[in-house]
Amino acid sequence: MSSESGRAELIATAAATVASRLGPRRPGVAIVLGSGFGVVAEKVTDALRIPYGDIPGFFVPTVEGHKGELVAGTLAGREVLLQSGRFHMYEGHTADEAAFPVRVFATLGVRTLIVTNAAGGIRPTFAPGTVMLIRDHINLTGRTPLTGPVLPGEERFPDLSVAYDVKLRRIAYEVAARQEQHVEEGIYAGLPGPSYETPAEIRYLERIGADAVGMSTVMEVIAARSRRLKVLGISTITNLAAGLVVGKLSHAEVMEVAAHVGDRVARLIEGVVAETE
Ligand code: HPA
Repeated sequence: MSSESGRAELIATAAATVASRLGPRRPGVAIVLGSGFGVVAEKVTDALRIPYGDIPGFFVPTVEGHKGELVAGTLAGREVLLQSGRFHMYEGHTADEAAFPVRVFATLGVRTLIVTNAAGGIRPTFAPGTVMLIRDHINLTGRTPLTGPVLPGEERFPDLSVAYDVKLRRIAYEVAARQEQHVEEGIYAGLPGPSYETPAEIRYLERIGADAVGMSTVMEVIAARSRRLKVLGISTITNLAAGLVVGKLSHAEVMEVAAHVGDRVARLIEGVVAETE
């Protein structure tokens, strides 16, 4: 994806490939599933699975808990497209590659993006299992998918003052209340990973206003906003961040807690999707 026309062309080719598989389906909402959120895919009816291997520009995920397929289908009566397996920079992907699926979704006509992730909790009241709606993020990766010539349909200097849509968040609160679920709201710090943070880094993140920390999401959201998609971000706090608790952090623990909360998050997403325009 190096040369400029190559970048735009690859997005168009991938979108055309997915479109031909979708046939008459016109998903308006795309949902990016983070570690352990595969359960959302089980709620989709009429599922059409497209393995990443069939889509130019997509990679086969290397992380446990990330599948490697798009799932098109119906959720809460709406046509949706699920990204089951994302591309992280810590796998060796560029910022551009991490954001690639979102650009393909936008090209396909998707207008709403729901991103989910597993995150470490920094705010002291965030116990594992807390569901946090992302109000804003801090991109600490030092990267952006917007580097280089501006892609067709994007802006040179996109505004990120409201990166996470206020109305979608309000809908999520209303759905959560109806479902008698508790949701929090906070700031997600996106780091490159893959090592978990040091306790000193977590103290720093707390001071700069982060409530949760993770290794994904920010590239996707930046690309989505530069194409004017509306974004809802949902973090599941799977562990207390480094130094806030005695003991080691592990991906196994992250996956276990995410899987535990997965059903709640799936119901929340279903409720939100039902109310998308
Ligand atoms: N740090 C970074 N990413 C994470 C964490 C964490 O503690 N938990 C889940 N993803």
